[in-house]
Amino acid sequence: MPTKISRFLLLFLALFFALPEMHSQSAPQAGDAPWWKHAVFYEIYPRSYMDSNGDGYGDLNGIASKLDYLQALGVDAIWIAPCFPSPQVDFGYDVSDYENIDKTYGTLGDFDRLEKLGREHGIKIILDFVVNHTSDQHPWFLDSRSSRTAKKRNWYIWRDGKAPNQPPNNWISGFGGSAWQWDDKTNQYYYHYFYPQQPDLNWRNPAVVNAMYDTTAWWYKRGVAGFRLDAVDTLYEDPALKDNPVLPGKDDRGDPNMRNEYNQKLPEVHTALQGLRTVANKYDAVLIGETWTSDVNELKRYYGSRNDELQMPMDLMFINLKFSAPVFRQHIAGIDASGGWPVYVIGNHDKPRSWNRYGDGTHNDHIAKDMAALYLTLRGTPILYYGEEIGMQNNDPVRKEDVKDPVGRLTWPTDKGRDGERTPMQWNGTPNAGFTTGIPWLPIPVTYRTYNVADELQDPNSILNWYKGLLALRHKDPALIDGDYIALNQDDPNVLSYLRKHNDDAVLVVINMSAAPQKASFDLKPQGFNSGHAKTLMTTQNMGATQKLSEIALQPFAVYIGEVAK
Ligand code: GLC
Repeated sequence: MPTKISRFLLLFLALFFALPEMHSQSAPQAGDAPWWKHAVFYEIYPRSYMDSNGDGYGDLNGIASKLDYLQALGVDAIWIAPCFPSPQVDFGYDVSDYENIDKTYGTLGDFDRLEKLGREHGIKIILDFVVNHTSDQHPWFLDSRSSRTAKKRNWYIWRDGKAPNQPPNNWISGFGGSAWQWDDKTNQYYYHYFYPQQPDLNWRNPAVVNAMYDTTAWWYKRGVAGFRLDAVDTLYEDPALKDNPVLPGKDDRGDPNMRNEYNQKLPEVHTALQGLRTVANKYDAVLIGETWTSDVNELKRYYGSRNDELQMPMDLMFINLKFSAPVFRQHIAGIDASGGWPVYVIGNHDKPRSWNRYGDGTHNDHIAKDMAALYLTLRGTPILYYGEEIGMQNNDPVRKEDVKDPVGRLTWPTDKGRDGERTPMQWNGTPNAGFTTGIPWLPIPVTYRTYNVADELQDPNSILNWYKGLLALRHKDPALIDGDYIALNQDDPNVLSYLRKHNDDAVLVVINMSAAPQKASFDLKPQGFNSGHAKTLMTTQNMGATQKLSEIALQPFAVYIGEVAK
């Protein structure tokens, strides 16, 4: 019979051992850091994640049924690509009602249930706010286009042509062709940076700005933890509608190349971001930005000069980097020193899958593990793209008539559009990869038979278990949560290495980014670590529990992660 004291001791021990488990269910909090700094985000393309009703399209109940999976993976927040009512011309990025759920994806009741279940799993919900434009079926636009004197005429950008049959200026749509659409009803053109079915809102009209701010508040009150802001760069246009400077040559849609000087990245964008942030602050919400930039200085601006814009502008430059140690070393150094909190992304619904993009065609699985080790151990917040954790591959359409993404039909066959990176999540080896009992809206590549969640969970060396291990480590190791980034062996052309140092502890990350065996050697005395050894935490190759730092032999594409202490 245990005594009272030993019963207390047993209870204490039970609680003590239960704690790490409990912690892994929510983003670790260290000091006063806001939750999103230590969270792992995960982008879900709702059409493709999990179909709960057999119609071939993913839905919110499908996502809810996978929260256990996401929790076990180590995800703290999911960003759901637009799930609002929409004619689906751009698969949800053409919203016809900002305050509801598209029936393909469920109901507001389903959303509330997902939000509640999410909370129980320690997973927050981030929605995708399409701020630049609505659908041409949105009631605001239906009113706007109804007459020149309509109440909401000025909610969009209407202009006369330059001359008969000539648009107001030379601006080109990001999806090809003129950015101006003639409308017979009122004999004027309206402006659309994206498809003609996506008319641009007029952000110079305070009524529009207020309506958009109110929409965010409406969702925050419903429990949304933040937004990913879509296409923020195109919010404002030059009121004088000056022609953009034309550059030599044509793009792959046959349009003249030009510098989008007067319809992109206008300074007023930052005023709008400050306004959206003011609302977000009232609800302790986070704003993630779709921020395509060409250098670190440009990216820095989105945080706001007083840290009053986006908390999380995405470093989308990462997506376009070549898989090479010096290239990544240089880029990370710039971002890490920029003063902003880095937000790393290696893939999304607009870019070919990371497995294909960084892969060399032969060692793609190894390279997928290298990329995971890299961006999941850096100082900053990572955003995973669904399926990346199982090594999902691009599955481009083979025939033009199968293409679903309109932009793919336009540029076929040079660019086959974005269907390839949006195919259904591969849950298991049964027909349709366990995604649907119906006909999936996009075809699933045959590789699902080996690259799927169920099979990979059984394989200790799978990409999925590598991700799970990395995320578990990331959630519990103070050096990975809060440590400084210190680049090591900066002249090495093949091996990328760095320390994440926190007080007296550090994690050493070593990645052989080459197809040849390499040797790496570290002297960490300058950083205050004299032992000359590391305790192995994770590695892709066979290594002892303790590793001598003066000589680490690395197989092609191998990763070594070890703990060094003073
Ligand atoms: C963003 C989205 C993309 C969409 C476009 C227009 O770039 O990521 O998928 O087509 O905005 O809304």
